[in-house]
Amino acid sequence: MDKQSKIVIIGAGIFGLSTAYQLASEGYKNVFVLDRHMPPVPDGSSSDISRVIRFDYGDDDYVELAYDAYLKWRDNPKYKGIFYPADYILVGKTSPYGKDWIQKTTTALNKKKLPWHTLESVAETKRKFPVLSGELANPGFFGYNNHHAGWADAAKAVAQLRDDCFELGVSFICGRAGTVTGFVTDSRRAIKGVRTLAGTRFDGDHFILAAGAWSSGLVSTYNSTLSTAHILGYVKLTEEEMEKYKNLPIYTNFSTGWFNFPPHGDTKTLKMAIHGWGYTRTPTSEDLNANKSNVSAPPLIPPRERINFVPEDGEARLREGLKEILPELGDRPFEKVALCWYTDTPSGNFIMDWHPDHPNLFIGGAGSGHAFKFLPILGHYMSLALKGRLPDKLAQKWRFRKDYENEGDTFKGDGSRGGPPRRELEPKEKAKL
Ligand SMILES: Cc1cc2nc3c(=O)[nH]c(=O)nc-3n(C[C@H](O)[C@H](O)[C@H](O)COP(=O)(O)OP(=O)(O)OC[C@H]3O[C@@H](n4cnc5c(N)ncnc54)[C@H](O)[C@@H]3O)c2cc1C
Ligand SMILES: *[C@@H]1O[C@H](CO)[C@@H](O)[C@H](O)[C@H]1NC(C)=O
Ligand SMILES: *[C@@H]1O[C@H](CO)[C@@H](O)[C@H](O)[C@H]1NC(C)=O
Ligand SMILES: *[C@@H]1O[C@H](CO)[C@@H](O)[C@H](O)[C@H]1NC(C)=O
Ligand SMILES: *[C@@H]1O[C@H](CO)[C@@H](O)[C@H](O)[C@H]1NC(C)=O
Repeated sequence: MDKQSKIVIIGAGIFGLSTAYQLASEGYKNVFVLDRHMPPVPDGSSSDISRVIRFDYGDDDYVELAYDAYLKWRDNPKYKGIFYPADYILVGKTSPYGKDWIQKTTTALNKKKLPWHTLESVAETKRKFPVLSGELANPGFFGYNNHHAGWADAAKAVAQLRDDCFELGVSFICGRAGTVTGFVTDSRRAIKGVRTLAGTRFDGDHFILAAGAWSSGLVSTYNSTLSTAHILGYVKLTEEEMEKYKNLPIYTNFSTGWFNFPPHGDTKTLKMAIHGWGYTRTPTSEDLNANKSNVSAPPLIPPRERINFVPEDGEARLREGLKEILPELGDRPFEKVALCWYTDTPSGNFIMDWHPDHPNLFIGGAGSGHAFKFLPILGHYMSLALKGRLPDKLAQKWRFRKDYENEGDTFKGDGSRGGPPRRELEPKEKAKL
């Protein structure tokens, strides 16, 4: 890749934007970002009012990377007004599965000499965090808290990154002429250009596919990714409640996958989500690729904002989790509910590698529901990966894998998911999206 070559990045989420920013700051002069919509993209996985920033991982490499990113969120003045510190609590019932996850995480933290605190009982937890008024769990409580964590206003972080890209000369094409529907290739299967929904063609030298949950609709990922929808709920708070809950920790029940965010100031809402197995959405007859593929993906045309819908079973789980910690809010109607897309890999590892089918197509993504926190450092690693300079252990972790192709359902996750098994959305549920 020389500095004058034309680099076409498909997708303006955190993977695409951080890469564009990094390459432009290294002196690449012709960087183009294409997207279905202007970033922050309303239904993109990188846009919302909040994302958790934590470095609690059961894997040494992710602890190290996430800690590095956390320090940047916390200390770099550019994230002032975007990053907010908060306590992170991970709890569950004593079960071999839950204990195993906490053990792995705390062992990895110990290895880095990063402090955390056991929560011995419900009583102790409530003493430390008096705002938690619910029953939590009894008996069989098990958990810990990490004081060093927080959350970021995701849409603001993305808007800032977009503007940083503009400042360095990155070009954007958004809307129908930025919506890629296919590739034009030569006899070596090298990509010459992309076709778009506007009927136009856009050529380039190198292509970086960072289209998140939509990526598997454009090229085969050989069963190494699965796009799944996850549920979100938002409850409106009064001024008094904003004050009352201002020190609410991020509370995660790993048995259910339910977790909350501290109150969000601009919107005055309390947001909750479930880090679970999610829902798949195979194409309906209206989807462009309906008759070609049965791969789960979100709808191609972006809505103006995330659709106010989750399946009924999901809404019930959101409410149950809220009752567990704040029963006084348990019956309050949701201001809004929504689905947001994960791009899962069997291991939960990201992908940063060249695609096996096309010599000039790089693929970056597969966030597996946990990539946002890496925003401050992601572009650096994408750039290393593009040049084949990733440290070996990361190159191994993030390689494109073809070996899942014939393995059936391999999406077992990294051990962090809770709740009921994944299921396909019913036709009447898909019709709502
Ligand atoms: C509910 C939920 C909660 C999460 N919570 C956390 C958290 O607390 N902490 C954390 O670290 N991470 C979290 N994540 C994960 C994190 O948000 C994602 O891993 C990350 O945002 C993925 O970024 P991306 O760039 O791959 O995808 P996206 O942001 O989705 O970007 C892909 C872009 O590609 C564009 N695109 C798609 N198809 C095309 C096409 N054909 N042509 C042109 N453009 C196209 C899309 O419009 C989109 O903007 C969460 C995710 C969800 C869904
Ligand atoms: C977590 O969820 C499980 C399953 O619903 C529940 O039994 C438990 O009480 C919840 N709380 C904790 C702290 O485990
Ligand atoms: C898919 O095939 C059906 C039946 O042949 C047809 O009616 C439909 O229009 C096709 N859909 C697309 C998006 O091409
Ligand atoms: C597509 O996948 C869904 C969900 O896995 C399944 O129910 C359906 O039968 C599949 N359809 C085809 C044509 O393979
Ligand atoms: C992926 O896995 C499914 C079964 O889960 C299988 O039907 C399919 O053929 C596999 N391969 C590809 C390339 O999708």
